[in-house]
Amino acid sequence: MTTTPDFLVLGSGIAALRAALALASRGRVCILTKGDPGQGSTVWAQGGIAAALGDDDSPSLHYEDTLAAGDGLCEPGAVRMLVEAGPAYVEELLAWGAAFDRLPDGRPSPTREAAHSVRRVFHAEDATGREISRVLHAQVAAAPAITLVDHAIVSDLIVEGGRCVGAAWHDADGMRHETRAAATLLATGGAGHVFSQTTNPAVITGDGMAMAFEAGAEVADLEFVQFHPTVLDVPGRARFLLSEALRGEGARLLNVHGEAFMTRYEAAAELAPRDRVARAIVRESQRTAAPVYLSLAHLTGLDVHGRFPQISDACREVGLDLARDPIPVSPAVHYVMGGVVTDLDGRTSVPGLYAAGEVACTGVHGANRLASNSLLEGLVFGARAGAVMGERPRARDAWNSDRLVVCDQPMPAAGGAWPEGLDAAVVRARAWRDLGLVRTPEGLREAESYFGRAWAARFAAPGEGLAAAQMRSLVTVAWLMGRAALRREESRGGHYRTDFPERRDDTWGHHCSDVLQRRAD
Ligand code: FAD
Ligand code: SIN
Repeated sequence: MTTTPDFLVLGSGIAALRAALALASRGRVCILTKGDPGQGSTVWAQGGIAAALGDDDSPSLHYEDTLAAGDGLCEPGAVRMLVEAGPAYVEELLAWGAAFDRLPDGRPSPTREAAHSVRRVFHAEDATGREISRVLHAQVAAAPAITLVDHAIVSDLIVEGGRCVGAAWHDADGMRHETRAAATLLATGGAGHVFSQTTNPAVITGDGMAMAFEAGAEVADLEFVQFHPTVLDVPGRARFLLSEALRGEGARLLNVHGEAFMTRYEAAAELAPRDRVARAIVRESQRTAAPVYLSLAHLTGLDVHGRFPQISDACREVGLDLARDPIPVSPAVHYVMGGVVTDLDGRTSVPGLYAAGEVACTGVHGANRLASNSLLEGLVFGARAGAVMGERPRARDAWNSDRLVVCDQPMPAAGGAWPEGLDAAVVRARAWRDLGLVRTPEGLREAESYFGRAWAARFAAPGEGLAAAQMRSLVTVAWLMGRAALRREESRGGHYRTDFPERRDDTWGHHCSDVLQRRAD
């Protein structure tokens, strides 16, 4: 095992692997990843990867769609980078052997997803992430400079003299290790499991966001959580994602009376941006006091089981036929738009620490991510971070806009008792209740104050070493989300408040960030 690599990469999803490949020609790379190498959201990605490759498409059209979905908060420079650089990185995946669905003439076959004005989502049936992951892992395995250590749970970043110089981690036997490197990339994904209802795999608990914040890095936009509208809702079963590509291919949302109701809420009906479809589902379900269903029964010309084999299997397991039956759905937490603030090369505010993928916040997704832009983000910004990590470490460049404002509200003083009975299940249930799709002032105040108390007492979290570190991650992210959501007195993208239901560009047309306030005592 490499214990003193040149570069340390945390995570083994799309952002981590693409960064490691960019680094491999310049030094020894050590990848540390929490579970099996294939665990993480990347492998679970279904619908596809967005890129302006089609004859009817262009980066500028992709740019406009991304900005529209982002609800006024995307950073234009970051979006331009994503959509202009994206196609070449997707072509690279194809050149490496990614087996995407093809048109009869051999070109990759795009599907449509919500809020895309053309078909631009390239996919491998309904298991695109699995195929991309296979290809990237094969490239990594063929690179002798890269070592991958699995079941290595990173708990802390090591910061010396204001610089990140590596990370501390625990192996499968609970032994603590430290790995030092000239540059460290956080690519630990999002934070779905801070909530009880999520599409994300269990390893996705916000660790990277919490570790970076503790290390002094700036984090932003954590109030913007994306709820995927259509997640299988069968009591006692895992919340399995029912891809937006189903609606892209024509699936309809029906109420309990069999009525297609979406046009009553949104002109773009099933293909409106995710946050809007998700809220329409909740409203219709409340109005009818019954579940909402996804139906493909009218798509008689589509080979539903052939096009969506993975989703068909998941439905079959609960006794439903995707092609014929109404499938009960409701929203669940899917993606975090905010994260560790970076420049376009992945630099964070802490020299030596880089971030890419879902853990990072480049401003590319604004307040609501356009479907299938996340895999693309991981590829583009993972590769870009990997390309600069050999340079002398320095803090990130300023964003091109002046729309990033550091919050100066005081933070709770460290100390106090760990809240009675607080464990991971309680964090998740409370986060779902108080920081969910429809946020009330009472819920937000409760989240901010309860998680704030827990965060202040984080070093008294129950359990030894790793267990305590995992609890710290959950409460840190839940508190940062609660604090950010309470402070933003408007509704925009994934953040919807009953007391401020309108978007307010005059006062809230900017990003808010938090940096750990360290006290001299
Ligand atoms: P991930 O792929 O999540 O990888 C994070 C890695 O970090 C994992 O290897 C994990 O084990 C590791 N890790 C976490 N914590 C630690 C720790 N403490 N120590 C060490 N390692 C750690 N996006 C799209 O663009 N298109 C889609 O079709 C799509 N479908 C999706 C379907 C599902 C069900 C889900 C959950 C997400 C989907 N997304 C999709 C979103 C997208 O998959 C993710 O945003 C993206 O894959 C994130 O990539 P990443 O490299 O940042 O992180
Ligand atoms: C999906 O297939 O609906 C997920 C796509 C995404 O999250 O971008």
